[in-house]
Amino acid sequence: AMRNELSALVNTVKDPETRKAFDMEMQSFFYLFTRYLAERARSQELDWDRIKSPSEDKIIPYAKLPPGNVSNLNKLAVLKVNGGLGTSMGMTGAKSALEVKDDMTFLDLTVRQIEHLNTTHRVDVPLILMTSFNTHEDTLRIIKKYANQQLRITTFNQSRYPRIFKETLLPCPRTADDDKKHWYPPGHGDLYNALMHSGVLDQLLAEGKEYLFVSNSDNLGAVVDEKILQHMIDSKSEFIMEVTDKTKADIKGGTLIDYDGQIRLLEVAQVPNEHIEDFKSVRKFKIFNTNNLWIDLKALKRVMENEGMELDIIVNPKTTDDGQAVIQLETAAGAAIKHFNNAHGVNVPRSRFLPVKSCSDLLLIKSDIYSLEHGQLVINQNRMFETTPVIKLGDHFKKIQQFQKRFKKIPKILELDHLTVTGDVYFGRNVTLRGTVIIVANEGQRIDIPDGCVLENRLLSGNLNM
Ligand code: UTP
Repeated sequence: AMRNELSALVNTVKDPETRKAFDMEMQSFFYLFTRYLAERARSQELDWDRIKSPSEDKIIPYAKLPPGNVSNLNKLAVLKVNGGLGTSMGMTGAKSALEVKDDMTFLDLTVRQIEHLNTTHRVDVPLILMTSFNTHEDTLRIIKKYANQQLRITTFNQSRYPRIFKETLLPCPRTADDDKKHWYPPGHGDLYNALMHSGVLDQLLAEGKEYLFVSNSDNLGAVVDEKILQHMIDSKSEFIMEVTDKTKADIKGGTLIDYDGQIRLLEVAQVPNEHIEDFKSVRKFKIFNTNNLWIDLKALKRVMENEGMELDIIVNPKTTDDGQAVIQLETAAGAAIKHFNNAHGVNVPRSRFLPVKSCSDLLLIKSDIYSLEHGQLVINQNRMFETTPVIKLGDHFKKIQQFQKRFKKIPKILELDHLTVTGDVYFGRNVTLRGTVIIVANEGQRIDIPDGCVLENRLLSGNLNM
């Protein structure tokens, strides 16, 4: 049934060239779908008792790495996965198009970082951006202004797959150009297919590039690191995953496991319900995946051409606007680790993982806690503590539009330890927050923090007359 429906979709395309490309895309989707059906039939994918923590030699501490040779950088390309929307922040365009600091977006800052790398070391590291149908336009708009600059920027589009109804397992879209909401970008694991089909993989190899550093476009901590690159070369590793120590707050990220002697990525979506607590515990699984990945390009081509890049399927359930249950079949880039020789993790400092997953993360990054150095975020020297403040903004601040409306200006938080805000709260200009500040507006109440207000170790609640 699925095959017929997909053929019908392909037949809705008139232009032969477009149809060929779309047909290929639907074939890749169909392959993923049949794998999903087969796995579902076998029901249990992972046997929990066979999962072990990886052995010590599979997680190398960053501090033990020798210095790197700068000349290796000529063999490197940097890729940012930039196809996701940041739905958890209510975004409808690319998250990387958000302004972060000094009127610069995530993408602008990434460009700064690589320009700086190239000029400092007189190398030519290109920047590659993977976009999706959701983010392509935003991305092009931002990088347009770099067209005449030194830095080479290449973009390629990832796949667009049809959502499927949970009940019938049939595709949601009726035609190839059916509404956006019926389609999805199938996760950053799609990177390998898209890199190959777009021709970018061959282009990189032809230019003499041997290594690819991949990271999330919202991770400003993911700067090129010569030590890790050197270690990759010295250890003849075809794939390195940067992992970092897990804290209780890090429940979302995947972790590296030993499965029958093979190194693998385990994502929370793959964990059976009865083991979720186990998965979240920091005792059994001490580290998690930052999604900073270093990949040997020749090895990547070999895997793609020989065994094929099969990745564990993540089933992402969603509900449509009219309340229908649909699923999206997705994959994660880090799952590729099992296909490569001498693949392992490097345990890096937390500073290499600074993602923006929520508006609370965004507040921190936009604030005076960080300043910029060549596109890199560095902790303000005047911060007296090593740690960054813990910020918990409530549901009223969940969506980016709400966040922007509720902060006229980002407060000064250099001396803040902890901030919790719940309910209908608005911040004026030049507000300073210090120590522990808790602001609670109860149901039906609104709190306005006036311009110039200084709050130090304060608990505010109820209706306020300030
Ligand atoms: P995530 O999906 O893990 O997180 O993407 P997110 O961007 O915070 O999105 P939401 O809030 O869960 O929706 C991590 C990185 O992978 C990219 C994203 O752009 C981000 O840089 N990504 C994600 C893709 O490139 N393609 C995808 O299909 C999904």
